[in-house]
Amino acid sequence: MNNPKKIAGEKAASFIKDGMTVGLGTGSTAFFAIHKIGARVKEEGLKLKCIATSIESENLAKELNIPIFGFEEIKEIDITIDGADEVDKNFNLIKGGGGALLREKIIAYITKHYIIIVDETKHVESLGKFHLPVEVVQFGWQRTFDHLQNLGCEIKLREKNKEVFITDNGNYILDCNFKKIENPESLQTTIHNIPGVVECGLFINRTNTLIIGKPSGEIEVLE
Ligand code: A5P
Repeated sequence: MNNPKKIAGEKAASFIKDGMTVGLGTGSTAFFAIHKIGARVKEEGLKLKCIATSIESENLAKELNIPIFGFEEIKEIDITIDGADEVDKNFNLIKGGGGALLREKIIAYITKHYIIIVDETKHVESLGKFHLPVEVVQFGWQRTFDHLQNLGCEIKLREKNKEVFITDNGNYILDCNFKKIENPESLQTTIHNIPGVVECGLFINRTNTLIIGKPSGEIEVLE
Protein backbone atom coordinates (compact mmCIF):
# COMPACT_ATOMS: atom_id res chain seq x y z
CA MET A 1 0.00 0.00 0.00
CA ASN A 2 1.23 3.48 -0.86
CA ASN A 3 1.38 6.38 1.57
CA PRO A 4 -1.13 8.88 0.06
CA LYS A 5 0.50 11.87 1.78
CA LYS A 6 3.94 10.91 0.48
CA ILE A 7 2.92 10.44 -3.14
CA ALA A 8 0.89 13.68 -3.15
CA GLY A 9 3.78 15.63 -1.57
CA GLU A 10 6.35 14.24 -3.97
CA LYS A 11 4.15 14.91 -6.99
CA ALA A 12 3.76 18.54 -5.90
CA ALA A 13 7.53 18.94 -5.61
CA SER A 14 7.81 18.08 -9.32
CA PHE A 15 6.08 21.42 -10.14
CA ILE A 16 9.09 23.36 -8.85
CA LYS A 17 11.55 24.73 -11.40
CA ASP A 18 15.03 26.18 -11.10
CA GLY A 19 15.09 29.83 -9.97
CA MET A 20 11.63 29.84 -8.34
CA THR A 21 10.58 31.35 -5.04
CA VAL A 22 8.80 28.65 -3.06
CA GLY A 23 6.53 28.64 -0.01
CA LEU A 24 6.97 25.60 2.22
CA GLY A 25 3.85 24.37 3.99
CA THR A 26 3.43 22.77 7.40
CA GLY A 27 2.25 19.36 8.56
CA SER A 28 2.68 15.68 7.87
CA THR A 29 1.89 15.97 4.12
CA ALA A 30 4.01 19.08 3.49
CA PHE A 31 6.81 17.17 5.25
CA PHE A 32 7.12 14.85 2.24
CA ALA A 33 7.09 17.75 -0.23
CA ILE A 34 9.86 19.51 1.70
CA HIS A 35 11.93 16.32 1.74
CA LYS A 36 11.53 15.92 -2.02
CA ILE A 37 12.43 19.58 -2.61
CA GLY A 38 15.54 19.03 -0.47
CA ALA A 39 16.48 16.01 -2.58
CA ARG A 40 16.01 18.00 -5.80
CA VAL A 41 18.14 20.87 -4.48
CA LYS A 42 20.88 18.36 -3.67
CA GLU A 43 20.70 16.19 -6.77
CA GLU A 44 19.73 18.69 -9.48
CA GLY A 45 21.40 21.78 -7.98
CA LEU A 46 18.11 23.75 -8.15
CA LYS A 47 18.61 27.36 -7.09
CA LEU A 48 15.53 28.28 -5.05
CA LYS A 49 14.48 31.01 -2.66
CA CYS A 50 12.22 29.45 -0.05
CA ILE A 51 10.12 30.78 2.81
CA ALA A 52 8.50 28.60 5.47
CA THR A 53 5.00 28.72 7.00
CA SER A 54 6.21 27.64 10.47
CA ILE A 55 9.27 27.38 12.65
CA GLU A 56 8.98 23.58 12.35
CA SER A 57 9.12 23.65 8.54
CA GLU A 58 11.90 26.24 8.57
CA ASN A 59 14.00 23.97 10.80
CA LEU A 60 13.31 20.97 8.56
CA ALA A 61 14.27 22.96 5.46
CA LYS A 62 17.53 24.10 7.06
CA GLU A 63 18.40 20.50 7.97
CA LEU A 64 17.93 19.59 4.31
CA ASN A 65 20.05 22.55 3.12
CA ILE A 66 17.09 24.24 1.43
CA PRO A 67 17.86 27.98 1.23
CA ILE A 68 15.47 29.96 3.46
CA PHE A 69 14.80 33.68 3.06
CA GLY A 70 12.66 36.27 4.88
CA PHE A 71 10.12 38.85 3.70
CA GLU A 72 12.92 41.43 3.17
CA GLU A 73 13.88 39.33 0.12
CA ILE A 74 10.57 37.76 -0.88
CA LYS A 75 7.64 39.89 -2.05
CA GLU A 76 5.91 37.34 -4.23
CA ILE A 77 6.02 33.54 -4.33
CA ASP A 78 5.90 31.43 -7.51
CA ILE A 79 4.63 28.22 -5.90
CA THR A 80 3.52 27.29 -2.40
CA ILE A 81 2.90 23.66 -1.49
CA ASP A 82 0.83 23.08 1.63
CA GLY A 83 -1.50 20.54 3.22
CA ALA A 84 -5.08 21.07 4.39
CA ASP A 85 -7.49 19.55 6.87
CA GLU A 86 -10.50 19.71 4.54
CA VAL A 87 -10.99 20.70 0.88
CA ASP A 88 -14.47 21.20 -0.55
CA LYS A 89 -15.68 20.85 -4.13
CA ASN A 90 -14.88 24.54 -4.82
CA PHE A 91 -11.29 24.09 -3.52
CA ASN A 92 -12.06 26.10 -0.36
CA LEU A 93 -10.09 24.88 2.64
CA ILE A 94 -9.96 24.47 6.37
CA LYS A 95 -6.37 24.71 7.56
CA GLY A 96 -4.64 25.09 10.90
CA GLY A 97 -4.86 21.59 12.36
CA GLY A 98 -1.16 21.98 13.10
CA GLY A 99 -1.60 25.55 14.33
CA ALA A 100 0.27 27.30 11.51
CA LEU A 101 -2.75 28.97 9.88
CA LEU A 102 -1.66 32.60 10.25
CA ARG A 103 1.74 32.23 8.60
CA GLU A 104 0.21 29.86 6.06
CA LYS A 105 -2.37 32.45 5.10
CA ILE A 106 0.10 35.34 4.85
CA ILE A 107 2.14 33.18 2.49
CA ALA A 108 -0.92 31.95 0.54
CA TYR A 109 -1.93 35.55 -0.22
CA ILE A 110 1.36 36.38 -1.98
CA THR A 111 1.50 33.11 -3.91
CA LYS A 112 0.88 32.91 -7.67
CA HIS A 113 0.37 29.13 -7.83
CA TYR A 114 -1.02 27.60 -4.65
CA ILE A 115 -0.83 23.80 -4.57
CA ILE A 116 -2.73 21.84 -1.93
CA ILE A 117 -1.75 18.24 -1.16
CA VAL A 118 -4.08 15.86 0.65
CA ASP A 119 -5.12 12.26 0.99
CA GLU A 120 -8.60 11.46 -0.32
CA THR A 121 -10.24 11.41 3.15
CA LYS A 122 -9.90 15.21 3.27
CA HIS A 123 -11.76 15.87 0.02
CA VAL A 124 -15.31 16.61 1.20
CA GLU A 125 -18.62 17.88 -0.18
CA SER A 126 -18.78 20.80 2.28
CA LEU A 127 -16.52 22.12 5.04
CA GLY A 128 -17.12 21.95 8.78
CA LYS A 129 -16.73 18.42 10.04
CA PHE A 130 -13.15 19.33 10.91
CA HIS A 131 -13.22 21.90 13.73
CA LEU A 132 -12.33 25.33 12.37
CA PRO A 133 -9.19 26.73 14.04
CA VAL A 134 -9.37 30.41 14.98
CA GLU A 135 -6.19 32.11 16.20
CA VAL A 136 -6.90 34.69 18.93
CA VAL A 137 -4.77 37.00 21.05
CA GLN A 138 -4.33 35.92 24.66
CA PHE A 139 -5.74 39.17 26.10
CA GLY A 140 -9.45 38.71 26.75
CA TRP A 141 -9.59 35.40 24.87
CA GLN A 142 -12.57 34.31 27.01
CA ARG A 143 -14.69 37.14 25.55
CA THR A 144 -13.52 36.36 22.00
CA PHE A 145 -14.63 32.79 22.80
CA ASP A 146 -18.11 34.12 23.76
CA HIS A 147 -18.50 36.03 20.47
CA LEU A 148 -17.52 32.96 18.47
CA GLN A 149 -19.86 30.75 20.48
CA ASN A 150 -22.73 33.11 19.65
CA LEU A 151 -22.23 32.12 16.00
CA GLY A 152 -23.57 28.68 16.94
CA CYS A 153 -20.48 26.52 17.33
CA GLU A 154 -19.01 24.44 20.12
CA ILE A 155 -15.50 25.55 21.02
CA LYS A 156 -12.41 24.10 22.67
CA LEU A 157 -9.32 26.05 23.66
CA ARG A 158 -6.55 24.03 22.01
CA GLU A 159 -4.15 22.19 24.32
CA LYS A 160 -1.02 20.18 23.65
CA ASN A 161 0.49 17.85 26.25
CA LYS A 162 -2.06 19.14 28.79
CA GLU A 163 -0.85 22.74 28.37
CA VAL A 164 -2.54 25.52 26.42
CA PHE A 165 -1.17 25.43 22.87
CA ILE A 166 0.68 28.61 21.86
CA THR A 167 1.19 29.39 18.17
CA ASP A 168 4.47 30.49 16.57
CA ASN A 169 3.06 34.03 16.94
CA GLY A 170 2.34 33.77 20.68
CA ASN A 171 -1.44 33.39 20.35
CA TYR A 172 -4.09 30.83 21.38
CA ILE A 173 -6.23 28.67 19.09
CA LEU A 174 -9.96 28.14 19.55
CA ASP A 175 -11.17 25.05 17.66
CA CYS A 176 -14.76 25.75 16.57
CA ASN A 177 -17.13 22.92 15.69
CA PHE A 178 -19.67 24.27 13.19
CA LYS A 179 -20.58 20.75 11.95
CA LYS A 180 -21.42 22.13 8.49
CA ILE A 181 -20.27 25.47 7.06
CA GLU A 182 -22.86 26.56 4.49
CA ASN A 183 -21.15 29.76 3.38
CA PRO A 184 -17.41 29.81 4.13
CA GLU A 185 -16.87 33.29 2.69
CA SER A 186 -19.49 35.03 4.84
CA LEU A 187 -18.40 33.06 7.92
CA GLN A 188 -14.83 34.25 7.36
CA THR A 189 -16.00 37.89 7.19
CA THR A 190 -18.08 37.49 10.36
CA ILE A 191 -15.18 35.91 12.26
CA HIS A 192 -12.75 38.60 11.08
CA ASN A 193 -15.05 41.24 12.59
CA ILE A 194 -14.71 39.84 16.13
CA PRO A 195 -12.22 41.71 18.33
CA GLY A 196 -9.34 39.52 19.46
CA VAL A 197 -9.44 37.32 16.36
CA VAL A 198 -6.11 37.29 14.54
CA GLU A 199 -7.05 34.87 11.75
CA CYS A 200 -9.24 31.88 10.97
CA GLY A 201 -8.43 28.69 9.11
CA LEU A 202 -10.78 29.27 6.15
CA PHE A 203 -8.84 29.66 2.89
CA ILE A 204 -11.29 30.84 0.23
CA ASN A 205 -10.54 31.04 -3.51
CA ARG A 206 -6.81 30.45 -3.05
CA THR A 207 -6.14 26.97 -4.39
CA ASN A 208 -5.02 26.62 -8.02
CA THR A 209 -4.09 22.94 -7.99
CA LEU A 210 -5.33 20.16 -5.75
CA ILE A 211 -3.27 16.98 -5.59
CA ILE A 212 -4.95 13.97 -4.01
CA GLY A 213 -2.92 10.89 -3.11
CA LYS A 214 -4.65 7.51 -2.84
CA PRO A 215 -3.54 4.28 -1.14
CA SER A 216 -3.72 2.51 -4.53
CA GLY A 217 -0.86 4.72 -5.72
CA GLU A 218 -3.14 6.77 -7.96
CA ILE A 219 -2.58 10.53 -7.84
CA GLU A 220 -5.36 12.87 -8.91
CA VAL A 221 -4.35 16.34 -10.05
CA LEU A 222 -7.31 18.76 -10.21
CA GLU A 223 -7.08 22.33 -11.49
C1 A5P B 1 -0.95 23.35 9.69
O1 A5P B 1 -1.36 24.29 10.60
C2 A5P B 1 -2.09 22.95 8.85
O2 A5P B 1 -2.76 23.94 8.18
C3 A5P B 1 -1.75 21.81 7.93
O3 A5P B 1 -1.45 22.25 6.65
C4 A5P B 1 -2.92 20.91 7.90
O4 A5P B 1 -3.33 20.71 9.23
C5 A5P B 1 -2.63 19.59 7.23
O5 A5P B 1 -1.77 18.85 8.02
P1 A5P B 1 -1.44 17.35 7.72
O6 A5P B 1 -0.82 17.30 6.37
O7 A5P B 1 -0.49 16.95 8.81
O8 A5P B 1 -2.71 16.56 7.80
